[in-house]
Amino acid sequence: MIGRDRIRLFIVSAAIVLAIGLSVRAQQPPQPPTGAAPTGQPPALPSQGPPRQGAQQPRRPPLPGEKAAEYYKNIKILKDLPADQLPITMQFIAASLGVGCDFCHVTGPQGGFDRDEKKPKDTARKMLQMVETINTQQFEGRLQVNCTTCHHGNNRPDRNTVLAVEMTPGEAAAAQRTAAERQGGPGRAGFGPQGPPGAPSGQGSPAQGPPSAQGAAGTPGVPGARGEQPVAPAGRGAQGEPAEPPPPAESVDQVLDKYVQAIGGQAALAQAKTRVMRGTATSRDLQTTQINVQEKVTGEYRIDVEGRQGTQSRVYNGKAAWIQMPNGVREVEGVNAQQIARLADLGLPLNTKQRYMNLRSARYGTVDGTPTIVLIGSPAANVTEQLQFDRATGLLLRRTVFTRTALGQLQEQIDYSDYRYVSGVKMPHQVRYATWNSVTTQKFSSVTLNAPIDEAQFTKPEARR
Ligand code: HEC
Ligand code: HEC
Repeated sequence: MIGRDRIRLFIVSAAIVLAIGLSVRAQQPPQPPTGAAPTGQPPALPSQGPPRQGAQQPRRPPLPGEKAAEYYKNIKILKDLPADQLPITMQFIAASLGVGCDFCHVTGPQGGFDRDEKKPKDTARKMLQMVETINTQQFEGRLQVNCTTCHHGNNRPDRNTVLAVEMTPGEAAAAQRTAAERQGGPGRAGFGPQGPPGAPSGQGSPAQGPPSAQGAAGTPGVPGARGEQPVAPAGRGAQGEPAEPPPPAESVDQVLDKYVQAIGGQAALAQAKTRVMRGTATSRDLQTTQINVQEKVTGEYRIDVEGRQGTQSRVYNGKAAWIQMPNGVREVEGVNAQQIARLADLGLPLNTKQRYMNLRSARYGTVDGTPTIVLIGSPAANVTEQLQFDRATGLLLRRTVFTRTALGQLQEQIDYSDYRYVSGVKMPHQVRYATWNSVTTQKFSSVTLNAPIDEAQFTKPEARR
């Protein structure tokens, strides 16, 4: 299914991922909650899987470069895919169709991912083959068409055109600005005051494209044709494609300096060693719970979520990540570990260049109509991030995170808002985190800098075996 060069790149990136200790372990494939609209999932715990399955025997992790067909039991199409890439590739498939693993797989105590009873699994194999054929025959083997191209989060792709939707006030203002800029330009007559057909047409550009088609083949942050796409406002209401996005005048350093100034300056920030935040988290199914976040500037992060069954904690100690539940501890790896770690951002403003490889000033964009400048960098070998800073205020508004899989990129988005001063540093009091199967909005009523944090909070308890 996957071209040979791409496989080789996978092996390289898989080795790097292993080296930094974030390898996806195959015997514990990340399992998002079943069904397209997971409910009962604790807020602030995106994409976490249920406890490990009784039916699955603990197994050695795949060796670097070991193929899926060698490691798994029943692989007919993705034979050459490195085995450690299979779990995240499955997440990509589930995300593309907006379904849980059980849409195709027999899960539960009697289940097994190798079993073939479900019709959609059979269809998915045919689709994998179809996608390979399209890419081979039409696009010279480049990964241009994937499951998302048609499915877009639906198991039955939509065959109808989409209707326009209202813009947000910010988008409307941006549209007015664009229209004003176009005034006087040649050849616009006949399109009316709104510019060419299709300009503000609701779903103009679907959510941000991957930062780089090349990226899918293992080169994070490398400018690729698609990497230069303008960043559209979230979801609907995107502006029509500007002919050529102007290259940003500001350098990475200028953007970061302005950001640091905006939130209180180098001196004030350098004082901030820890942060404790209390507030609420509201999930996609609008359940709200109490949360407590403890964080160190060095990247340690702990969130305690009050649930019906007691407190659930997600912790990243700089090396390992785990979820502590009232009935035990579960280790978290791969993307799920990265998902916990990426919320630690107290240290981000002063360490942006250490945190992201190949950081570059990529283009201008917008977040809900607010003009932004976009920096692109790579926080890990398999991940590319776009950071959008408000061009007027300098504040960080959005991080869009793309994790590579064999079929395309899994997208996540973190939005920061409600910036307020705490001990001389401006801190976002609202953080919205969206993955493919969860949305969590954290609202903090209390943010404290430099409160002492007990080291034991970041000490890993004995894992349950
Ligand atoms: C749309 C259908 C579909 C969904 C959803 C899906 N899978 Fe799969 N899965 C497949 C297909 C098809 C194969 C076999 C691929 C092949 O033959 O090359 C497979 C194979 C697997 C295997 C290898 C099993 C073996 O031993 O042969 C695992 C493990 C797996 N999937 C895990 C998952 C997980 C975890 C999820 C949820 C994140 C998931 N899958 C979601 C279609 C799906
Ligand atoms: C060129 C467009 C296109 C692409 C690309 C595509 N699909 Fe499909 N897919 C379809 C259409 C059309 C259907 C049939 C929907 C129907 O029957 O109404 C479908 C149906 C399916 C179904 C059956 C859904 C159900 O409800 O039973 C599965 C599973 C599926 N696709 C998986 C995939 C996977 C996995 C990929 C990526 C490897 C993929 N598709 C890529 C167009 C596409």
